[in-house]
This record gives sequence, structure tokens and C-alpha cells, in this order.
Amino acid sequence: MNAIIQVKKLCKSYLSGTVPLRVLNDIDLTINQGDFISLMGPSGSGKSTFLNIIGTMDSPNSGEIWIAGKQVTHMPENQLANFRLKHIGFIFQFHYLLPEFTVEENVAMPLMIGGLHKHEAIVKSREMLDYLGVIERAHHFPAEISGGEKQRAVIGRALINSPDILLADEPTGNLDKETGERVLELFKTIQKDLNQTFFLVTHDESIADIAKINYKIDNGKLIKQSK
Ligand SMILES: Nc1ncnc2c1ncn2[C@@H]1O[C@H](COP(=O)(O)OP(=O)(O)OP(=O)(O)O)[C@@H](O)[C@H]1O
Ligand SMILES: [Mg+2]
Repeated sequence: MNAIIQVKKLCKSYLSGTVPLRVLNDIDLTINQGDFISLMGPSGSGKSTFLNIIGTMDSPNSGEIWIAGKQVTHMPENQLANFRLKHIGFIFQFHYLLPEFTVEENVAMPLMIGGLHKHEAIVKSREMLDYLGVIERAHHFPAEISGGEKQRAVIGRALINSPDILLADEPTGNLDKETGERVLELFKTIQKDLNQTFFLVTHDESIADIAKINYKIDNGKLIKQSK
């Protein structure tokens, strides 16, 4: 098995007043290439905190995070930004598409930030939008498309650099049931076509159903659920 992410003895506490609030307590986890993982747990249990830490957006108090064979725990921020761009795709509940850019420009953005010429980046972006079934919205601005279409564009932007792992926090959280189901179908297809590694944080049982590996977070620990 090819480990994409290794988490070792991860601890995270926040200081609430004078009392430290221990959110993640000595967590070990290995994510292998092609894994499709869901993480569930009550509100406030630390799901987003964990996702943000493995996505290098937040740092732990102690422990190690290894991504694609590199320890990221003490990487300086300027190196981290570049590392994130190449290795990690993010999908959040609220779409952060840039409003003043078209859909195809938004999806092309990570390629351009990585140094690709705009013309080539747009060609690749359009291929991605075609794959995701939203090519006819390529020239629209985010305000001019539906929630489900926005989510497809966000997925396209997350996938465009072929990340080692796609991290999603409540990816169906503000979509209606039918649109949410279509996004899930898309995840399944992406996983099959690209052997894409997924780590999805969710309250949605149907996501947990399609994930091959399920975890629950309880009292700061990840507990693997039997299928
Ligand atoms: N920056 C912060 N400072 C202090 N406490 C925080 C901070 N961020 C999160 N917390 C606390 O850490 C705990 C875990 O928060 P987290 O956002 O990870 O929960 P969650 O499982 O994602 O919940 P939800 O399902 O509601 O999104 C909560 O009790 C929260 O109040
Ligand atoms: Mg959360």
C-alpha cells in the first residue's frame, strides 16, 4: 500500500479562557492511495479541526503529519502554500469561487498560480469542466450559476492539479437532496476513473454509505467503524 498521509500522535487543544479544550487526542491514521474515507461525529467534535490540520491549514500542538513522504508539520508557510497547491485539493461547504472571474478562470486558477500560461490553463480547465458536465457554464460568473454547478466548479478547481488527496468538509451541506446525490455520484465516478483518494467530513449518512472506510470521532479519538 502506498501511504498518502500519515498522522502520528496528533494532539490539538484550544485555550478557552484559562482551561485548555482538548479537541484531538493522540490520533494515529494512515490514508493510502485510492482510499475513500468518511469522517462523522457530532457538531463540535473536531472534524473540521482534523481536516484543517491534515490539509496543512492549521497546526497541531504535537504530533507529525506526513503527506506524500514529506513531513509538513514544521514546513515554513511559503513552502507550504506551494506544497498544498500541488498535493491537496479542498472542497468546502461554502463555495469560495472568486466572483470576478468566470467559471473556467476559477478552475484554471491553481494551474496559473503554479506558473502555467493562461491559454494552456484554460484549455485544461475546459477539459475538466467538460468531464464534470458543466462546460456550457464555462463563461458564466459564479453569481450566474446554480449551487450544484458551483459545487462542480469547486470540485474541478480542487482536481485540476491532480492532487494526492481531495479533502472535503460537508461537501453536500448546503445542497438540496437531489443535487447532493448528484455530487456524490460524481465523487464515485471520480474515484473510479482516477483512483482519487478522498477524505470527506460529513453529517450526511449517504456519504458515509458510499465511502469504503468510515471513521467516527469521539472524545478526541478516531474510531474505525465496521461496514
Ligand atoms: N479557533 C478556535 N479557538 C477555540 N476553539 C475552537 C477554535 N476552532 C474550533 N474550536 C472548538 O473546537 C471544537 C471542535 O471544532 P470543529 O470546528 O473542529 O468541530 P466540527 O466537528 O467540525 O463541528 P461541526 O460539525 O459543527 O462543523 C469545538 O468545540 C470548537 O468550539
Ligand atoms: Mg465542522
